[in-house]
Amino acid sequence: MTAAAVPRDGGAPLPDMFTLRGRAAFVTGAGRGLGEAIAQGLAEAGCSVALADVDPAVEAVAARLQSLGHRCTALRLDVRDEAAFEATFAAATGSFGCIDIMVNNAAATRSTSIWSISAGEWDEVLAVNLRGTFFGCRIAGRHLRERGGGRIINLSSIAGQQPSAASGAHYAASKAGILALTRSFAAELAPHGVTVNAIAPSAVNSPLLDALDDERRRALAAAIPLRRFGEGREVAAAVVYLASPAAGFTTGATLDLNGGRLMR
Ligand SMILES: NC(=O)c1ccc[n+]([C@@H]2O[C@H](COP(=O)([O-])OP(=O)(O)OC[C@H]3O[C@@H](n4cnc5c(N)ncnc54)[C@H](O)[C@@H]3O)[C@@H](O)[C@H]2O)c1
Repeated sequence: MTAAAVPRDGGAPLPDMFTLRGRAAFVTGAGRGLGEAIAQGLAEAGCSVALADVDPAVEAVAARLQSLGHRCTALRLDVRDEAAFEATFAAATGSFGCIDIMVNNAAATRSTSIWSISAGEWDEVLAVNLRGTFFGCRIAGRHLRERGGGRIINLSSIAGQQPSAASGAHYAASKAGILALTRSFAAELAPHGVTVNAIAPSAVNSPLLDALDDERRRALAAAIPLRRFGEGREVAAAVVYLASPAAGFTTGATLDLNGGRLMR
């Protein structure tokens, strides 16, 4: 390396700070949508990726990534079940030797009005989104703490930061809870070199948004200052950044990906 290529602080050259070559990641809810985009982004950045989902569609997603030359494996998992979560995470560490990066992305999204949410639906949304993320943080947290470092990235939402008619109160409460969980785990794990951060997107193109009619999509986009929805690749890029050495001094943070919809 020439002297000019050595940064003044003696650290790695800047481009190397964004690579995940040789790392291994575990992504929940990777069977479609943002989870699929995140798994692909991590694989493109150099990671081996365990794709976990309750939906068997995750197998076709993993097969597609393998056909592109990426090292990945599909795992069936219901994140509400702690014992199954532990066993599935152990299977992934068995396949790859270890996990360096955990992405808690799986979610149940419901937009039911406050007046119509049943107790069962409340419990279901909180169980997938908040309990599942808690299990994911704790199971990965123990593993990363023992290894002396790693990254946990949780998918929250703008719905957890401000109210919106487009998301149910149970979904919003779960996503706000994820921000609190993120900070609790960040404080607990910081002395062990493990960072824990959240990403809070507003509307991002995905099967969920595809299901809306044109008028609703137009109204949603009009409320975003950048006048468009986000893309899965942009969420994947944010995950890769938070997982990379470049974000090593960031923990307990929420990265807003909302087209300017909430500025703070
Ligand atoms: N798409 C958006 O506009 C948007 C906006 C803000 C936040 N988010 C967040 O991003 C994440 C991904 O969103 P998406 O749009 O891709 O959602 P999606 O509904 O398209 O995908 C969610 C995935 O999670 C899986 N899943 C559901 N329950 C599960 C369970 N019990 N165990 C394991 N897997 C389970 C589903 O099978 C699915 O593959 C979610 O956390 C969501 O809250 C999305």
